[in-house]
Amino acid sequence: MRIPFLDLTRQQREIEAEATVALTRVMAGGVFILGREVEAFEAEWARFCGVRGAAGVNSGTDALTLALIASGAVRQGGQDEVITSPLTAAYTALAILNAGGIPVFADIAPQTYTLDPSAIERVITPRTRAIVPVHLYGRMADMPAICEVAARHGLIVVEDAAQSHGAQVQGRRTSAHAAAFSFYPTKNLGAYGDGGAVTSDDETLIERVKVLRQGGNVAAFQTGVEGRNSRLDEMQAALLRIKLPHLEKWNDRRRGLAKIYDELLRGTILHLPSAPAPEAHVYHLYVVQHPQRDLLRSHLAARGIETLIHYPFLLHQQPLFRQPSQCALPVAEDVAGKILSLPLHSHLNESEAREIAQAILDFTS
Ligand SMILES: Cc1ncc(COP(=O)(O)O)c(C=O)c1O
Repeated sequence: MRIPFLDLTRQQREIEAEATVALTRVMAGGVFILGREVEAFEAEWARFCGVRGAAGVNSGTDALTLALIASGAVRQGGQDEVITSPLTAAYTALAILNAGGIPVFADIAPQTYTLDPSAIERVITPRTRAIVPVHLYGRMADMPAICEVAARHGLIVVEDAAQSHGAQVQGRRTSAHAAAFSFYPTKNLGAYGDGGAVTSDDETLIERVKVLRQGGNVAAFQTGVEGRNSRLDEMQAALLRIKLPHLEKWNDRRRGLAKIYDELLRGTILHLPSAPAPEAHVYHLYVVQHPQRDLLRSHLAARGIETLIHYPFLLHQQPLFRQPSQCALPVAEDVAGKILSLPLHSHLNESEAREIAQAILDFTS
């Protein structure tokens, strides 16, 4: 492909010198798991997110799983239901299953692709314990409304913030009981391998995650609870520390590219992402809708432009997650066959964005 969906080598070139120094420091230090780099990154990430604490773990999936357990949202051996979105990475629902809960799906709002607060109300049952809003494509879900529904029903909220590093609503980067971040390499803040973190203002919750991630050890070699092996390693933490000071600049570049797409594609048959307040969207993905999505995709591929679909299968329709009581989710089902993710990353050139937009215009006109 002439324009791949993502090219991480460009970002690597920007930080190469800093990254080499950081990795050399870790190798020379001889500590590779849960050491000073992880501790420092946890403090820096918590400060960036505006919360009291962070715990580094080995993936976004584990971050969500452990946040659900540590917050008490899902109790072991129970039938605790957790409401989430049908339009997300399967890892969101897998994390709920891994924690021991049952994922229940509510419809999304058509303008935002994130959970519709009024749809949440319709699927609450006496077994509902928690809500997992997903800040999909980098856009914050309607957290004030979701937190209001949760408070009214006594539910815990754990944000799936795997795609929304740096986004904020009403001045807050996270506003729930806890948030789960992924540092998978393709994310807005990505490691050079797997990584994740739980953030929270509740320091007891963060301490619980730290016990759970390390085999459930309450003290050296003393297993107190059934934990996991979900540790963040020093190399990943050191790299994340190098990248964090660049994050806001990289998010701004993403916003700039989104603006180019917005301007060039407005007024066509394409359905463009609706623009919230700029700080509420960090454009992890730029997703459009087209009634002939697959034809448009082939047209772009023929021009050497790679696109992806996030996500081709709705979770409430997958046998692993489907509950007998599952009702239709018309908004998600309507968009699923039309959504298409265009290339957009911190190091895409403006000229490439313009070329992609022109190729789309050639198809639609
Ligand atoms: C919305 C969402 N939730 C959860 C995850 C899981 O994160 P990870 O791949 O780090 O386990 C991802 C990333 O794949 C994601 O995009």
